Amino acid sequence: MRRPLVAGNWKMNGTRASVAELLDGLRQEEIPAGVEVVVFPSLIHVAQAVSELAGRSIGVGAQDCAIEQQPGALTGEVAACQLRDAGCSMVLVGHSERRLILGEADAVVVCKFVAAQTAGLVPVLCVGETLEQRESGQTLEVVARQVAAVLDACGAQSLAGAVLAYEPVWAIGTGLTASPGQAQEVHAAIRAQVARLDEVVAGGLRILYGGSVKAANAAELFAMPDIDGGLVGGASLNANEFGAICRAAGN
Ligand code: PGA
Repeated sequence: MRRPLVAGNWKMNGTRASVAELLDGLRQEEIPAGVEVVVFPSLIHVAQAVSELAGRSIGVGAQDCAIEQQPGALTGEVAACQLRDAGCSMVLVGHSERRLILGEADAVVVCKFVAAQTAGLVPVLCVGETLEQRESGQTLEVVARQVAAVLDACGAQSLAGAVLAYEPVWAIGTGLTASPGQAQEVHAAIRAQVARLDEVVAGGLRILYGGSVKAANAAELFAMPDIDGGLVGGASLNANEFGAICRAAGN
C-alpha cells in the first residue's frame, strides 16, 4: 500500500507577506491523515515555511539543490545538506523548467539525486516529455531514458528512498492536463521499468502526476492504479484549492 503524496511546487512565487497568508490558509485546511503533504517554497521562504508549519503534518521541501555533495566553494548554490539542516525533508530534482530553461542534462540531475540522498533528503525525480515528443510518439522512450539515467547510475534500490513525478511538459502551467488514461499509461510503464530490476522497489515507489492538477481533476487522476498523488504548481498557491486536492488524494 503506497501512501499518497501531494506536493505543492510554489516555483518562483511569493513574498514574505503572501507566503505568510498561504501558510496560514494551509494550517486551516483539513488534511487526511493518510495523505503526506509537502510544500516546496522558493528557497528564500523555506525557513519561514519550516517555522510556520512547525508541529503540523505538512512537510517542507526545496525546488533544487547543488550538484556537489559537500558544502564549499560554489557561489550561489545551496547544498542538499544545508537544505536538510534548514528543515527540508525533500527536494525536487530534474524539474522540466530546469531541464529545458536552464539546460540541466540527465547527468546533472543524477548528481543532484545522489547529493539529495547522501544528505538524507528524499529526491522527487521529475520526468516528462515535450509536446513535440508526444506528437511524434516518443513519450515512453523519453521518460524511460530519464528514469534510466538514475537507475543506471544509482541502481533500482536508490528508488526505495525516492519519489518519481511524471509531468508532461505540455501540461505544465497550460491548463491542459493529461487524461487519466494518458497519465496511467506512462506511470505503469515507469513502474514496469523499475520492476524489471526490482519488483519490491517498484511496488513501493510513489509516482506522482504533475501538470495542471486542480481540485476539479484531481480525483479522477488519483483514481488511477499507478498514480500515487500529485505534484501541483499553480493550484498549490491557493490554500483552499490545494487542500481540496489533498483531500481528493485521501479518497
Ligand atoms: P502546474 O505545475 O500545476 O502549474 O501545471 C506543475 C509543476 O510544474 O510542478
